Amino acid sequence: MAICYDSANFKAQAEKLADELGLKLIEQADQNFDFILHCGENGLSLVHSKNPKQKPLLIDFTSGKNLYRRLHGGGKNQPIAKALGIKSGTRPTVIDATAGLGQDSFVLASLGCEVYMIERSPIVAALLQDALNRAAQDPETYAITQKVHLFNGSAESLIPSLAKADAIYLDPMFPDDKKTALAKKEMQILQALLEKTDDNNLFSIALGHAKHRVVVKRPKIGPFLNNQKPSLQMIGSSNRFDIYLKN
Ligand SMILES: C[S@@+](CC[C@H](N)C(=O)[O-])C[C@H]1O[C@@H](n2cnc3c(N)ncnc32)[C@H](O)[C@@H]1O
Repeated sequence: MAICYDSANFKAQAEKLADELGLKLIEQADQNFDFILHCGENGLSLVHSKNPKQKPLLIDFTSGKNLYRRLHGGGKNQPIAKALGIKSGTRPTVIDATAGLGQDSFVLASLGCEVYMIERSPIVAALLQDALNRAAQDPETYAITQKVHLFNGSAESLIPSLAKADAIYLDPMFPDDKKTALAKKEMQILQALLEKTDDNNLFSIALGHAKHRVVVKRPKIGPFLNNQKPSLQMIGSSNRFDIYLKN
């Protein structure tokens, strides 16, 4: 992994990130590195050099899929919102312990929840932070960015250090599930970059720390996390949400 920049305007940003992330700063794309972070006019993006057909990964909360979900995703009636316990007059605080590209967190924050996002990968966290900085410059999304709080590190160690939240949300990776990987193109680069960990341990920690519920996003046909049957399920178009209620 290395980092490069488009033009002199982005040199300082690239140098700072190279320092923070312990990456080599290079002048231009170089096939010797599997992944390259790229600082440019559109924002920070991740290029998979060994797979030139793959689009660079750039998170943008102000356009494309994120904008569509915010405007047309179904508001408080969409399955993820109901699963987390959003209803008239109720906006739970949420720890999104597997923030990833931040898509789910941003939906929850746009509906009015205070969201604490945890992302283990420093590279993904840097992409997220850059996207949040850009969204904070846009009057349409500024208020939403003020409701999300990003933490970089493992959720297993960070969850206990955060104030208890009404709900903890988990959407771990499914590296073995080829169908899921193919369905979500933007996740493929993450699957190539990130390692799989022990989701069952994360689940136990989340159950211990949530005030009211833990919600796990699964592919429609995926097994239960920890083989544990949920209290309730909410079925979406391509996913389901397993809801574990606490007494
Ligand atoms: C499938 S993605 C989540 C996608 C996310 N729900 C979204 O809407 O964009 C899973 C992410 O969780 C992160 N992750 C997995 N296990 C983690 C853990 N134990 N602590 C923190 N982050 C974790 C991975 O690095 C990856 O970026």
